[in-house]
Amino acid sequence: MHIIRRARIEDAMGIHAAHMKSIQEVCSKDHTNEEISGWGNRPFNEDQRVSAIENQYVWIVEIRNTIEGYAQILFKEREGVLFAHILGLYLTPNAIGLGIGKQMLQLMIDEANTKRVRQVTLESTITAHNFYQNFGFVDSAPQVVAQIGGSGVRCQPMKLIL
Ligand SMILES: CC(C)(COP(=O)(O)OP(=O)(O)OC[C@H]1O[C@@H](n2cnc3c(N)ncnc32)[C@H](O)[C@@H]1OP(=O)(O)O)[C@@H](O)C(=O)NCCC(=O)NCCS
Repeated sequence: MHIIRRARIEDAMGIHAAHMKSIQEVCSKDHTNEEISGWGNRPFNEDQRVSAIENQYVWIVEIRNTIEGYAQILFKEREGVLFAHILGLYLTPNAIGLGIGKQMLQLMIDEANTKRVRQVTLESTITAHNFYQNFGFVDSAPQVVAQIGGSGVRCQPMKLIL
């Protein structure tokens, strides 16, 4: 049994732990050790996590009272037009393959639709690229290498037109 709900401030540490675990134990199947070493071992930044919970939309999934993943989307206005950018969708191995990723992505898309956003963007891991493609996202630019936690990490810019 799993519960998906909006994140609260006291979830910050659990979100961080699930995020790092997902990179170390799931993304490591598709990304190199060099990519994982910095990206998957970042220190807990409480201010950043709390700010995301307060100012963006963050959901968590709980299984047996433990946070096993999260989803995070940012809404931003530019010249009167509202854009949405997915900043995270990470599950630990305990939450993988149960339809939870699809459910959490749908929650983010539903929120974007409610706000009448026309386009949702993200930078996909190698791991999730086909998952997003199945959902209708398309590549919007060539692969980039993002500097995350001291590692260069391959990311695929993608977009979904609503
Ligand atoms: C990508 C991720 C969120 C998918 O979550 P999940 O809960 O395992 O996926 P679901 O069980 O909801 O699967 C939904 C559908 O996508 C398919 N799918 C799941 N993961 C997939 C993948 N990596 N590639 C292709 N298809 C995938 C499933 O087979 C399922 O298909 P169906 O609807 O036809 O049955 C999860 O694998 C994950 O956390 N990965 C590591 C973190 C990561 O890379 N996140 C992306 C950050 S940008």
